[in-house]
Amino acid sequence: MKNFEFHNPTKIVFGADTVARLSTLVPHDARVLILYGGASAEKTGTLAEVRAALGQRSVQEFGGIEPNPSYETLMRAVAQVRSEKLDFLLAVGGGSVIDGTKFVAAAALHDGEAWDIAERGGANIAQALPFGAVLTLPATGSEMNSGGVVTKKATHDKLSFRSPLLYPQFSVLDPSKTFTLPAKQVANGLVDAFVHTTEQYLTYPVQARVQDRFAEGLLQTLVEIAPQAVASPDDYETRANLMWTATLALNGLIGAGVPQDWATHMIGHELTALYDIDHARTLALVLPALLDVQREQKRGKLLQYGERVWNITEGSDDERISAAIAHTRAFFESLGIPTRLSAYELGQEAVEAVLKQLAAHGMTALGEHRDIDLARSRLILEAAL
Ligand code: NZQ
Ligand code: ZN
Repeated sequence: MKNFEFHNPTKIVFGADTVARLSTLVPHDARVLILYGGASAEKTGTLAEVRAALGQRSVQEFGGIEPNPSYETLMRAVAQVRSEKLDFLLAVGGGSVIDGTKFVAAAALHDGEAWDIAERGGANIAQALPFGAVLTLPATGSEMNSGGVVTKKATHDKLSFRSPLLYPQFSVLDPSKTFTLPAKQVANGLVDAFVHTTEQYLTYPVQARVQDRFAEGLLQTLVEIAPQAVASPDDYETRANLMWTATLALNGLIGAGVPQDWATHMIGHELTALYDIDHARTLALVLPALLDVQREQKRGKLLQYGERVWNITEGSDDERISAAIAHTRAFFESLGIPTRLSAYELGQEAVEAVLKQLAAHGMTALGEHRDIDLARSRLILEAAL
Protein backbone atom coordinates (compact mmCIF):
# COMPACT_ATOMS: atom_id res chain seq x y z
CA MET A 1 0.00 0.00 0.00
CA LYS A 2 1.19 3.51 -0.75
CA ASN A 3 1.55 6.21 1.92
CA PHE A 4 -1.46 8.47 2.24
CA GLU A 5 -3.22 11.13 4.27
CA PHE A 6 -6.99 10.94 4.46
CA HIS A 7 -9.20 13.68 5.80
CA ASN A 8 -12.78 14.23 4.70
CA PRO A 9 -14.56 16.92 6.71
CA THR A 10 -17.94 16.86 4.92
CA LYS A 11 -20.88 16.04 7.15
CA ILE A 12 -23.44 13.82 5.42
CA VAL A 13 -27.10 14.05 6.38
CA PHE A 14 -28.72 11.08 4.64
CA GLY A 15 -32.32 9.98 4.34
CA ALA A 16 -35.93 10.86 3.66
CA ASP A 17 -37.21 14.30 4.70
CA THR A 18 -33.76 15.62 5.53
CA VAL A 19 -33.94 18.91 3.60
CA ALA A 20 -35.59 20.47 6.67
CA ARG A 21 -32.29 19.90 8.50
CA LEU A 22 -30.94 22.95 6.66
CA SER A 23 -32.59 24.97 9.41
CA THR A 24 -29.76 24.01 11.74
CA LEU A 25 -26.98 23.17 9.23
CA VAL A 26 -26.74 26.69 7.78
CA PRO A 27 -25.44 29.31 10.24
CA HIS A 28 -28.28 31.51 11.53
CA ASP A 29 -26.57 34.80 10.74
CA ALA A 30 -25.45 33.73 7.26
CA ARG A 31 -26.13 35.84 4.19
CA VAL A 32 -26.98 32.94 1.91
CA LEU A 33 -26.86 32.49 -1.86
CA ILE A 34 -28.82 29.46 -3.11
CA LEU A 35 -27.37 28.26 -6.41
CA TYR A 36 -29.33 25.97 -8.70
CA GLY A 37 -29.52 24.74 -12.29
CA GLY A 38 -32.33 25.03 -14.82
CA ALA A 39 -35.97 24.35 -14.13
CA SER A 40 -35.81 21.08 -12.17
CA ALA A 41 -35.22 22.35 -8.63
CA GLU A 42 -38.20 24.72 -8.82
CA LYS A 43 -40.47 22.23 -10.61
CA THR A 44 -39.82 19.38 -8.19
CA GLY A 45 -40.56 21.54 -5.15
CA THR A 46 -37.07 21.12 -3.70
CA LEU A 47 -36.34 24.84 -3.87
CA ALA A 48 -39.53 25.61 -1.98
CA GLU A 49 -38.49 23.16 0.75
CA VAL A 50 -35.04 24.74 0.91
CA ARG A 51 -36.47 28.26 1.19
CA ALA A 52 -38.81 27.14 3.97
CA ALA A 53 -36.00 25.44 5.89
CA LEU A 54 -33.85 28.60 5.73
CA GLY A 55 -36.62 30.54 7.46
CA GLN A 56 -35.81 34.13 8.34
CA ARG A 57 -32.23 34.13 7.13
CA SER A 58 -31.14 36.66 4.55
CA VAL A 59 -31.35 34.64 1.31
CA GLN A 60 -30.72 35.39 -2.36
CA GLU A 61 -30.84 33.05 -5.34
CA PHE A 62 -28.84 32.39 -8.49
CA GLY A 63 -30.37 30.05 -11.06
CA GLY A 64 -29.31 28.93 -14.51
CA ILE A 65 -26.13 26.95 -13.82
CA GLU A 66 -26.02 24.68 -16.84
CA PRO A 67 -24.82 21.04 -17.10
CA ASN A 68 -21.02 21.26 -17.39
CA PRO A 69 -21.12 24.65 -15.70
CA SER A 70 -19.64 27.50 -17.62
CA TYR A 71 -17.14 30.02 -16.36
CA GLU A 72 -19.16 32.70 -18.09
CA THR A 73 -22.32 31.91 -16.05
CA LEU A 74 -20.46 31.34 -12.79
CA MET A 75 -18.76 34.73 -12.96
CA ARG A 76 -22.21 36.34 -12.84
CA ALA A 77 -22.80 34.54 -9.55
CA VAL A 78 -19.40 35.74 -8.32
CA ALA A 79 -20.46 39.32 -9.10
CA GLN A 80 -23.67 38.86 -7.09
CA VAL A 81 -21.79 37.37 -4.13
CA ARG A 82 -19.38 40.31 -4.10
CA SER A 83 -21.88 43.12 -4.61
CA GLU A 84 -24.38 41.73 -2.09
CA LYS A 85 -21.70 40.72 0.42
CA LEU A 86 -23.02 37.15 0.67
CA ASP A 87 -21.05 34.82 2.90
CA PHE A 88 -22.54 31.31 2.61
CA LEU A 89 -23.33 29.33 -0.56
CA LEU A 90 -25.91 26.58 -0.81
CA ALA A 91 -25.89 24.36 -3.92
CA VAL A 92 -29.19 22.67 -4.81
CA GLY A 93 -28.69 20.24 -7.69
CA GLY A 94 -26.37 17.69 -9.27
CA GLY A 95 -22.65 17.69 -9.90
CA SER A 96 -22.78 20.70 -12.18
CA VAL A 97 -24.41 22.94 -9.58
CA ILE A 98 -22.14 21.71 -6.77
CA ASP A 99 -19.01 22.08 -8.91
CA GLY A 100 -20.17 25.53 -9.99
CA THR A 101 -20.72 26.48 -6.36
CA LYS A 102 -17.19 25.33 -5.52
CA PHE A 103 -15.82 27.54 -8.28
CA VAL A 104 -17.85 30.53 -7.08
CA ALA A 105 -16.73 29.88 -3.48
CA ALA A 106 -13.08 30.16 -4.54
CA ALA A 107 -13.44 32.80 -7.27
CA ALA A 108 -15.36 35.24 -5.07
CA LEU A 109 -12.33 35.58 -2.79
CA HIS A 110 -9.66 35.31 -5.50
CA ASP A 111 -7.41 38.21 -6.38
CA GLY A 112 -6.85 38.54 -10.11
CA GLU A 113 -8.28 36.64 -13.06
CA ALA A 114 -10.55 33.84 -11.78
CA TRP A 115 -9.91 31.54 -14.75
CA ASP A 116 -6.40 31.10 -13.32
CA ILE A 117 -8.02 28.85 -10.70
CA ALA A 118 -8.98 26.38 -13.43
CA GLU A 119 -5.70 26.74 -15.30
CA ARG A 120 -3.71 26.02 -12.14
CA GLY A 121 -6.02 23.14 -11.14
CA GLY A 122 -6.92 24.95 -7.92
CA ALA A 123 -3.32 25.12 -6.61
CA ASN A 124 -3.65 28.90 -6.23
CA ILE A 125 -6.82 28.86 -4.09
CA ALA A 126 -5.90 30.68 -0.86
CA GLN A 127 -9.39 30.97 0.61
CA ALA A 128 -12.97 30.03 -0.19
CA LEU A 129 -16.43 30.83 1.10
CA PRO A 130 -18.09 28.12 3.17
CA PHE A 131 -20.82 26.17 1.37
CA GLY A 132 -23.16 23.21 1.66
CA ALA A 133 -25.18 21.14 -0.79
CA VAL A 134 -28.55 19.51 -1.32
CA LEU A 135 -27.90 16.70 -3.79
CA THR A 136 -30.56 15.89 -6.40
CA LEU A 137 -28.58 13.63 -8.76
CA PRO A 138 -26.37 10.75 -7.59
CA ALA A 139 -23.35 10.51 -9.89
CA THR A 140 -20.30 12.66 -9.41
CA GLY A 141 -19.41 12.43 -5.73
CA SER A 142 -18.97 16.21 -5.73
CA GLU A 143 -21.17 16.33 -2.61
CA MET A 144 -18.35 14.78 -0.56
CA ASN A 145 -15.14 15.70 -2.32
CA SER A 146 -12.98 18.74 -2.92
CA GLY A 147 -12.90 18.81 -6.71
CA GLY A 148 -14.86 20.44 -9.49
CA VAL A 149 -14.86 20.87 -13.25
CA VAL A 150 -15.54 24.13 -15.09
CA THR A 151 -15.85 24.92 -18.79
CA LYS A 152 -14.92 28.08 -20.66
CA LYS A 153 -17.50 27.90 -23.42
CA ALA A 154 -15.72 30.42 -25.60
CA THR A 155 -12.64 28.24 -26.03
CA HIS A 156 -13.97 24.69 -25.30
CA ASP A 157 -11.66 24.37 -22.30
CA LYS A 158 -13.02 21.98 -19.66
CA LEU A 159 -10.62 21.95 -16.72
CA SER A 160 -10.71 20.43 -13.24
CA PHE A 161 -9.63 22.08 -10.03
CA ARG A 162 -9.37 20.94 -6.43
CA SER A 163 -8.44 22.31 -3.05
CA PRO A 164 -8.79 21.15 0.55
CA LEU A 165 -10.80 24.38 0.99
CA LEU A 166 -13.50 23.06 -1.35
CA TYR A 167 -15.09 20.27 0.66
CA PRO A 168 -18.75 21.06 1.32
CA GLN A 169 -19.36 21.73 5.02
CA PHE A 170 -22.35 19.43 4.73
CA SER A 171 -24.39 17.65 2.10
CA VAL A 172 -28.02 16.65 2.42
CA LEU A 173 -28.71 13.38 0.59
CA ASP A 174 -32.41 12.59 0.38
CA PRO A 175 -32.87 9.66 -2.04
CA SER A 176 -36.49 10.65 -2.71
CA LYS A 177 -35.15 13.84 -4.36
CA THR A 178 -33.97 11.61 -7.22
CA PHE A 179 -37.45 10.27 -8.07
CA THR A 180 -37.97 13.00 -10.65
CA LEU A 181 -34.77 12.28 -12.59
CA PRO A 182 -35.13 11.33 -16.25
CA ALA A 183 -34.02 7.70 -16.84
CA LYS A 184 -31.12 9.00 -18.90
CA GLN A 185 -29.65 10.86 -15.93
CA VAL A 186 -30.00 7.79 -13.70
CA ALA A 187 -28.12 5.73 -16.28
CA ASN A 188 -25.49 8.46 -16.50
CA GLY A 189 -25.10 8.40 -12.72
CA LEU A 190 -24.61 4.64 -12.62
CA VAL A 191 -21.89 4.85 -15.27
CA ASP A 192 -20.14 7.85 -13.73
CA ALA A 193 -19.95 6.14 -10.32
CA PHE A 194 -18.81 2.91 -11.98
CA VAL A 195 -15.97 4.66 -13.79
CA HIS A 196 -14.94 6.67 -10.72
CA THR A 197 -14.43 3.31 -9.06
CA THR A 198 -12.47 1.76 -11.94
CA GLU A 199 -10.22 4.85 -12.16
CA GLN A 200 -9.03 4.05 -8.63
CA TYR A 201 -9.15 0.26 -8.85
CA LEU A 202 -8.26 -0.94 -12.37
CA THR A 203 -4.59 0.01 -12.21
CA TYR A 204 -1.95 -2.34 -10.76
CA PRO A 205 -1.96 -4.35 -7.52
CA VAL A 206 -0.36 -2.77 -4.43
CA GLN A 207 -1.69 -5.17 -1.80
CA ALA A 208 -4.40 -2.69 -0.81
CA ARG A 209 -6.80 -5.41 0.11
CA VAL A 210 -9.62 -3.52 1.72
CA GLN A 211 -9.58 -0.76 -0.92
CA ASP A 212 -9.90 -3.49 -3.56
CA ARG A 213 -12.78 -5.17 -1.72
CA PHE A 214 -14.54 -1.83 -1.19
CA ALA A 215 -14.16 -0.99 -4.88
CA GLU A 216 -15.43 -4.40 -5.95
CA GLY A 217 -18.39 -3.98 -3.58
CA LEU A 218 -19.26 -0.64 -5.14
CA LEU A 219 -19.00 -2.04 -8.67
CA GLN A 220 -21.10 -5.09 -7.82
CA THR A 221 -23.72 -2.95 -6.12
CA LEU A 222 -24.00 -0.69 -9.17
CA VAL A 223 -24.40 -3.68 -11.49
CA GLU A 224 -26.94 -5.25 -9.14
CA ILE A 225 -29.17 -2.20 -8.69
CA ALA A 226 -28.87 -0.79 -12.23
CA PRO A 227 -31.99 -2.35 -13.83
CA GLN A 228 -34.24 -1.43 -10.91
CA ALA A 229 -32.71 2.03 -10.52
CA VAL A 230 -33.61 2.86 -14.12
CA ALA A 231 -36.96 1.07 -14.28
CA SER A 232 -38.51 2.14 -10.94
CA PRO A 233 -38.04 5.85 -10.29
CA ASP A 234 -39.78 5.84 -6.91
CA ASP A 235 -38.14 2.75 -5.41
CA TYR A 236 -36.66 4.48 -2.35
CA GLU A 237 -34.35 1.68 -1.22
CA THR A 238 -32.79 1.27 -4.66
CA ARG A 239 -32.27 5.03 -5.00
CA ALA A 240 -30.79 5.13 -1.48
CA ASN A 241 -28.25 2.50 -2.49
CA LEU A 242 -27.44 4.34 -5.69
CA MET A 243 -26.97 7.62 -3.87
CA TRP A 244 -24.64 6.32 -1.19
CA THR A 245 -22.69 4.14 -3.62
CA ALA A 246 -22.05 7.11 -5.91
CA THR A 247 -20.88 9.21 -2.96
CA LEU A 248 -18.53 6.50 -1.69
CA ALA A 249 -17.09 6.01 -5.17
CA LEU A 250 -15.41 9.41 -5.07
CA ASN A 251 -15.05 10.64 -1.51
CA GLY A 252 -11.41 9.62 -1.18
CA LEU A 253 -11.94 6.38 0.71
CA ILE A 254 -11.25 3.82 -2.03
CA GLY A 255 -8.53 6.01 -3.53
CA ALA A 256 -6.42 6.21 -0.37
CA GLY A 257 -3.11 4.37 -0.69
CA VAL A 258 -3.64 3.12 -4.25
CA PRO A 259 -2.46 4.18 -7.71
CA GLN A 260 -5.04 6.13 -9.73
CA ASP A 261 -5.64 6.33 -13.45
CA TRP A 262 -8.11 9.14 -14.49
CA ALA A 263 -7.12 9.00 -18.18
CA THR A 264 -10.70 8.04 -19.13
CA HIS A 265 -11.92 11.21 -17.42
CA MET A 266 -9.32 13.49 -18.99
CA ILE A 267 -10.04 12.21 -22.51
CA GLY A 268 -13.77 12.27 -21.76
CA HIS A 269 -13.68 15.92 -20.68
CA GLU A 270 -12.35 16.88 -24.11
CA LEU A 271 -15.24 15.02 -25.78
CA THR A 272 -17.75 16.92 -23.63
CA ALA A 273 -16.12 20.27 -24.30
CA LEU A 274 -15.98 19.71 -28.07
CA TYR A 275 -19.22 17.83 -28.74
CA ASP A 276 -21.40 18.48 -25.68
CA ILE A 277 -21.76 14.76 -24.90
CA ASP A 278 -22.90 14.16 -21.29
CA HIS A 279 -19.97 13.51 -18.94
CA ALA A 280 -20.84 9.88 -18.13
CA ARG A 281 -21.47 9.11 -21.78
CA THR A 282 -17.95 10.16 -22.69
CA LEU A 283 -16.62 7.75 -20.06
CA ALA A 284 -18.55 4.86 -21.61
CA LEU A 285 -16.92 5.70 -24.94
CA VAL A 286 -13.38 5.79 -23.59
CA LEU A 287 -13.15 3.16 -20.84
CA PRO A 288 -13.65 -0.11 -22.81
CA ALA A 289 -11.21 1.11 -25.47
CA LEU A 290 -8.67 2.21 -22.86
CA LEU A 291 -8.83 -1.11 -21.01
CA ASP A 292 -8.11 -2.91 -24.26
CA VAL A 293 -5.17 -0.68 -25.21
CA GLN A 294 -3.74 -0.84 -21.64
CA ARG A 295 -4.45 -4.56 -21.10
CA GLU A 296 -0.79 -5.45 -20.50
CA GLN A 297 -0.20 -2.69 -17.93
CA LYS A 298 -3.47 -3.54 -16.18
CA ARG A 299 -3.23 -7.32 -16.56
CA GLY A 300 -3.25 -8.28 -12.87
CA LYS A 301 -6.15 -6.03 -11.93
CA LEU A 302 -8.17 -6.86 -15.04
CA LEU A 303 -8.00 -10.55 -14.14
CA GLN A 304 -9.02 -9.81 -10.56
CA TYR A 305 -11.85 -7.53 -11.78
CA GLY A 306 -13.09 -10.22 -14.19
CA GLU A 307 -13.14 -12.86 -11.52
CA ARG A 308 -14.50 -10.89 -8.57
CA VAL A 309 -16.94 -8.53 -10.29
CA TRP A 310 -18.08 -10.58 -13.28
CA ASN A 311 -17.38 -14.16 -12.10
CA ILE A 312 -15.13 -14.89 -15.07
CA THR A 313 -13.03 -17.90 -14.12
CA GLU A 314 -12.65 -19.86 -17.36
CA GLY A 315 -10.27 -19.50 -20.28
CA SER A 316 -6.75 -18.21 -20.80
CA ASP A 317 -5.69 -14.94 -19.18
CA ASP A 318 -6.19 -13.09 -22.43
CA GLU A 319 -9.62 -14.59 -22.95
CA ARG A 320 -10.64 -13.66 -19.43
CA ILE A 321 -9.42 -10.10 -19.87
CA SER A 322 -11.32 -9.80 -23.16
CA ALA A 323 -14.44 -11.15 -21.45
CA ALA A 324 -14.10 -8.64 -18.59
CA ILE A 325 -13.87 -5.77 -21.07
CA ALA A 326 -16.83 -7.17 -23.04
CA HIS A 327 -18.93 -7.35 -19.84
CA THR A 328 -18.06 -3.74 -19.06
CA ARG A 329 -19.10 -2.62 -22.53
CA ALA A 330 -22.31 -4.67 -22.35
CA PHE A 331 -23.17 -3.15 -18.97
CA PHE A 332 -22.96 0.38 -20.37
CA GLU A 333 -24.90 -0.59 -23.51
CA SER A 334 -27.58 -2.28 -21.36
CA LEU A 335 -28.24 1.14 -19.85
CA GLY A 336 -28.76 2.62 -23.30
CA ILE A 337 -25.36 4.30 -23.21
CA PRO A 338 -23.32 3.86 -26.41
CA THR A 339 -19.69 2.78 -26.30
CA ARG A 340 -18.73 3.79 -29.84
CA LEU A 341 -18.03 7.26 -31.21
CA SER A 342 -19.95 6.30 -34.34
CA ALA A 343 -23.16 6.38 -32.26
CA TYR A 344 -22.66 10.16 -32.10
CA GLU A 345 -21.70 10.29 -35.77
CA LEU A 346 -18.12 11.06 -34.82
CA GLY A 347 -15.21 9.64 -36.78
CA GLN A 348 -11.51 10.21 -37.45
CA GLU A 349 -11.93 14.00 -37.43
CA ALA A 350 -13.04 13.79 -33.78
CA VAL A 351 -9.93 11.75 -32.93
CA GLU A 352 -7.75 14.51 -34.36
CA ALA A 353 -9.72 17.26 -32.61
CA VAL A 354 -9.54 15.56 -29.20
CA LEU A 355 -5.80 14.94 -29.58
CA LYS A 356 -5.28 18.61 -30.39
CA GLN A 357 -7.12 19.65 -27.21
CA LEU A 358 -5.26 17.08 -25.08
CA ALA A 359 -2.00 18.55 -26.36
CA ALA A 360 -3.17 22.11 -25.68
CA HIS A 361 -4.09 21.17 -22.10
CA GLY A 362 -0.81 19.35 -21.41
CA MET A 363 -2.61 15.99 -21.11
CA THR A 364 0.31 14.11 -22.59
CA ALA A 365 1.31 11.76 -19.75
CA LEU A 366 -1.92 10.25 -18.43
CA GLY A 367 -2.77 7.10 -16.51
CA GLU A 368 -1.34 5.40 -13.44
CA HIS A 369 2.00 4.90 -15.20
CA ARG A 370 1.93 8.31 -16.95
CA ASP A 371 2.45 6.31 -20.14
CA ILE A 372 -0.63 7.48 -22.04
CA ASP A 373 0.98 10.00 -24.34
CA LEU A 374 -0.71 11.42 -27.41
CA ALA A 375 0.20 8.36 -29.49
CA ARG A 376 -1.50 6.09 -26.98
CA SER A 377 -4.51 8.40 -26.64
CA ARG A 378 -4.79 8.10 -30.41
CA LEU A 379 -4.88 4.30 -30.14
CA ILE A 380 -7.59 4.56 -27.47
CA LEU A 381 -9.73 6.97 -29.45
CA GLU A 382 -9.33 4.92 -32.62
CA ALA A 383 -10.34 1.80 -30.70
CA ALA A 384 -13.53 3.67 -29.71
CA LEU A 385 -14.55 4.54 -33.29
O1 NZQ B 1 -30.56 22.02 -14.75
P1 NZQ B 1 -31.71 21.32 -14.15
O2 NZQ B 1 -33.02 21.77 -14.68
O3 NZQ B 1 -31.66 21.31 -12.65
O4 NZQ B 1 -31.64 19.78 -14.64
C1 NZQ B 1 -30.55 18.93 -14.34
C2 NZQ B 1 -29.59 18.78 -15.51
O5 NZQ B 1 -30.21 19.07 -16.72
C3 NZQ B 1 -31.10 17.54 -14.15
N1 NZQ B 1 -31.48 17.22 -12.77
C4 NZQ B 1 -30.70 17.25 -11.66
N2 NZQ B 1 -31.38 16.81 -10.60
C5 NZQ B 1 -32.65 16.52 -11.03
C6 NZQ B 1 -32.71 16.79 -12.41
N3 NZQ B 1 -33.84 16.59 -13.13
C7 NZQ B 1 -34.92 16.12 -12.47
N4 NZQ B 1 -34.91 15.81 -11.16
C8 NZQ B 1 -33.80 15.99 -10.40
N5 NZQ B 1 -33.79 15.65 -9.11
O6 NZQ B 1 -30.05 16.68 -14.52
C9 NZQ B 1 -29.27 17.30 -15.55
C10 NZQ B 1 -27.82 17.00 -15.36
O7 NZQ B 1 -27.33 17.58 -14.16
P2 NZQ B 1 -25.76 17.69 -13.89
O8 NZQ B 1 -25.60 18.33 -12.56
O9 NZQ B 1 -25.08 18.31 -15.06
O10 NZQ B 1 -25.31 16.16 -13.85
P3 NZQ B 1 -24.15 15.44 -13.05
O11 NZQ B 1 -24.50 15.32 -11.62
O12 NZQ B 1 -23.90 14.22 -13.80
O13 NZQ B 1 -22.90 16.43 -13.13
C11 NZQ B 1 -22.05 16.46 -14.25
C12 NZQ B 1 -20.91 17.45 -14.04
O14 NZQ B 1 -20.08 17.04 -12.94
C13 NZQ B 1 -18.72 16.97 -13.37
C14 NZQ B 1 -18.85 16.63 -14.81
O15 NZQ B 1 -17.67 16.88 -15.54
C15 NZQ B 1 -20.00 17.52 -15.24
O16 NZQ B 1 -19.56 18.83 -15.47
N6 NZQ B 1 -17.97 16.01 -12.54
C16 NZQ B 1 -17.63 16.39 -11.28
C17 NZQ B 1 -16.86 15.61 -10.45
C18 NZQ B 1 -16.46 16.04 -9.10
N7 NZQ B 1 -16.78 17.26 -8.70
O17 NZQ B 1 -15.84 15.29 -8.36
C19 NZQ B 1 -16.35 14.31 -10.88
C20 NZQ B 1 -16.99 13.80 -12.12
O18 NZQ B 1 -16.08 12.91 -12.74
C21 NZQ B 1 -17.40 14.82 -13.11
O19 NZQ B 1 -16.31 15.20 -13.92
ZN1 ZN C 1 -16.94 11.33 -13.58
